[in-house]
Amino acid sequence: MTSTHAFWLAGRQATGETAFDVTSPWDGRLVGRVSVPTEAQVEEAVAAAYAVRDEFAATPAHVRAAALDHVSKRLLERTEELAQLISAENGKPIKWARGEVGRAVSVFRFAAEEARRFNGGEAQRLDTDAGGQGRLALTRRFPKGVVLGIAPFNFPLNLCAHKIAPAIAVGAPIILKPAPATPLSGLILGELLAETELPAGSWSVLTVPNEQMPALVQDERLPVISFTGSDKVGYAIMDSVPRKHCTLELGGNGAAVVLADFASEQDLDWAATRIATFSNYQGGQSCISVQRVIADATVYDRLLPKIVAAVEAQVTGDPSDAATDVGPLVSEDAAKRVESWVEEAVRGGAKLLAGGKRDGAAYAPTVLTDVPADATLACEEVFGPVLTVTRVQGEAEAFTAVNDSKYGLQAGVFTHDVQTAFRAHRALEVGGVIVGDVPSYRADQMPYGGAKQSGVGREGVAFAMDDYTYERVLVLTGLAL
Ligand code: SIN
Repeated sequence: MTSTHAFWLAGRQATGETAFDVTSPWDGRLVGRVSVPTEAQVEEAVAAAYAVRDEFAATPAHVRAAALDHVSKRLLERTEELAQLISAENGKPIKWARGEVGRAVSVFRFAAEEARRFNGGEAQRLDTDAGGQGRLALTRRFPKGVVLGIAPFNFPLNLCAHKIAPAIAVGAPIILKPAPATPLSGLILGELLAETELPAGSWSVLTVPNEQMPALVQDERLPVISFTGSDKVGYAIMDSVPRKHCTLELGGNGAAVVLADFASEQDLDWAATRIATFSNYQGGQSCISVQRVIADATVYDRLLPKIVAAVEAQVTGDPSDAATDVGPLVSEDAAKRVESWVEEAVRGGAKLLAGGKRDGAAYAPTVLTDVPADATLACEEVFGPVLTVTRVQGEAEAFTAVNDSKYGLQAGVFTHDVQTAFRAHRALEVGGVIVGDVPSYRADQMPYGGAKQSGVGREGVAFAMDDYTYERVLVLTGLAL
C-alpha cells in the first residue's frame, strides 16, 4: 500500500482530509498519493506567512544564504533520487530529469550568492540643489510581501526552485503551489527547507487543486503572484487581481532562424541536430522548445532533409531508459490535443514529413511544411514534439516571420555575422535572442521572460529578487557631505 505524502504547512508536515493520486504518464503506474490541504489549513499557512513577514525580511543575509546553500547541497546529494522522481511523475526522460536537478542545484546556489550581495544600499548625494544641502539618499530594497508561487508541470523541480529561492534570498515568505500533475518534486524541496533554520511560516508547499487557486490569488495578504503556465490562465489571474504585482511566465512558439551565411555542411548539420533535439526535449513541453524553423531559401533544400533525418533519429520510449530522448507527454489528453492540431494542419494542406502518430500519451516527433497561416499549429503554442519548417527570402523576411506571432519568448538565429546578431537583437520582439543556437537555451541566472503575450516581468534569480522587492529611500539630513 502506498503511503500518502504530507504537504508542508508553515514549515511542518501536515495532512488534510482528502488525497489524490499522481500517476506516471508513461505506464499509468501510481507514483504517489498526495494529501490535499483543507481550507482551514490553507488559511493557517497564509496567516503564518503574513505574520512572519517582518521578521523574515529582517533575517540576516548569512542565515538566508546558509539555508539556500544547504538546499543546493542537499539537492546535489539527492540528484539521482530526484531525477527518478521527476521522470516518474512527469514522464521526462531520465537524462533530461538529471539536467533539471543540476539546474535546481545552481538556482539555490545563485540565490545564496545573490542574498549575500543584495541590498547593500545605494547612496546618492542630494546637495546638487540648494534644497538638498547636507542630505543624502540611501536606497535599499524591501520585500513587497508574501509571494504566491504557482508552478507548472513541465519542470516540476526547477520552476519551483525559481519561485522559492529568490523569495528566501530577499526575505519574502512564500506559499508555493506545485502543479497537481507533478507535486512530488516540490514536496522534496519542502523536506530540504525543513532541514534549515528558516523561521516557521516563512515557507509552505501547499498541494491545493487548481479549483482552490482563485481563493489564494484573491487573498490580500499575498500581494505578489509569480505564475508560470499557460497564457489563458496567467492572464485570467492578472485580470482578476489588477492591483497585485503579477509576474507571468507564459507560452511561446519558439522560432529558430537559419540564415544564408550559415550554409556549410557542418553548419547545417549542427543546426539540424540542435533543432531536432530541442523541438523534442521533454516532448516539446518547454515554453522555449523549437516550434518554428524559418530557413532562408538558399539553405532550405539542404537543411530540410537533415532536420527530418535528425528528428527521425530521436529515440522515443520509456523515460527511465538512459537512451530515451523523447518520452510521453504529460497526459493522453495532451497528446490527443497535439494530434488534433496536426490533423487540422494536414487537412488544411500541410505536408507531414515525419511523425504524426500517437500512442496513448506518446506523440511521435513530427515535422511539417506548408502549414496554413491560420492553422492552430501556426498560431498557438503546441507544447508537443512538433516542428514546422518555412522557407523565406532573406533576413528581413525571416525576422518578420519570427515576429508574426502573438508570442515573443525567445528566438534562435543561426548566423556567423555579428552585425546580423545585433540586427536580430534590435528587430526580434522576444525576451531573448540566442545567436548560433536554438531558442531553447536558458541559463538560470539570466533574465528570462517574454514580450507580447509570452508574459510580464522576468525570472532569473537576481531579476526575480528585484521583482519581489521595491525601492525604499532613506534620506539623511544635516550631514557634512
Ligand atoms: C519554460 O518552459 O518556460 C521553462 C524553460 C526552462 O526553464 O528551461
